[in-house]
Amino acid sequence: MKLNRKDILGLKDLSVEEINLILDTADSFRDIATRKRKKVPTLQGNTVVNLFYEKSTRTRTSFEIAAKRLSADTVNFVAAESSVGKGETFIDTVKNIEAMHPDVIVVRHSSAGAPHMLAKMIKPGVINAGDGAHEHPSQALLDMSMIRDEKGGFAGLEVAIIGDIAHSRVARSNIYGLTRMGAKVRVSGPATMIPPGIERLGVTVAPTIEEALRGVDVIMMLRIQLERQARPLFSSTREYSRFFGLNEQRVRLARPDAFIMHPGPINRGVEIDSAVADSERSRILNQVTNGVAVRMALLYLVTGGGN
Ligand code: CP
Repeated sequence: MKLNRKDILGLKDLSVEEINLILDTADSFRDIATRKRKKVPTLQGNTVVNLFYEKSTRTRTSFEIAAKRLSADTVNFVAAESSVGKGETFIDTVKNIEAMHPDVIVVRHSSAGAPHMLAKMIKPGVINAGDGAHEHPSQALLDMSMIRDEKGGFAGLEVAIIGDIAHSRVARSNIYGLTRMGAKVRVSGPATMIPPGIERLGVTVAPTIEEALRGVDVIMMLRIQLERQARPLFSSTREYSRFFGLNEQRVRLARPDAFIMHPGPINRGVEIDSAVADSERSRILNQVTNGVAVRMALLYLVTGGGN
């Protein structure tokens, strides 16, 4: 089976078959990271451009490592160091990069929909590396790959997503993907961070973190997206932590085999205590490891590879 699309823009429009294809393909790439020579010739002769208009540690590095492990040539475009500072528009920038014939453009932008507009305009494949508060598909797919690997599947699995749901592209992509695959998702956070009508996406809203955590299989914590809040949505980080922070006592409300995820960057002592972030139940760094295989799969599939 092949992915019948040149772009990965979000989980909203990926089918069950497509999600399974991506996760299966990622599984097949996973062992490359443990080899002495961490490289296969699969994408030799292809060029991948990382076009980042927002800061990133994990996603950009992970896409670059993924591309290099597949032997693609990689270019990192950092908006802050480019002619964007001289007034060049997003579209002109992209058209100029397209003129150099890359095969895939991985784009992160603060505007929701920027990758979607790009995908319609240009020939190379486009992978959304996060567009505003909209979607972050590669993050959700790596989260789902980890969950499937540890729990064996998604059907009936209870997942709690806690924090700034309103501004989280990670939450939105995971909600689309997890519910499509049969998991049950509960969300919780301060009322100011829960978008009205979120239930229409197939989730339930828990009024307290305690109710959200009771009996869940997976806990996904989120960072407060201060950079996307026009005005503060809570009175202090201390108060946030008191009502919605994950501590050891609260973790005990989940199932004994539940594990803890966070897309990063984490704010220790705000949404998650250090003791929890560094505990045996934490999978925060496993998520990062897993991200490389998932991004290898995405690059491989959007350039025409199949299983
Ligand atoms: N999870 C994530 O998107 O992290 P970065 O912002 O560091 O890429």
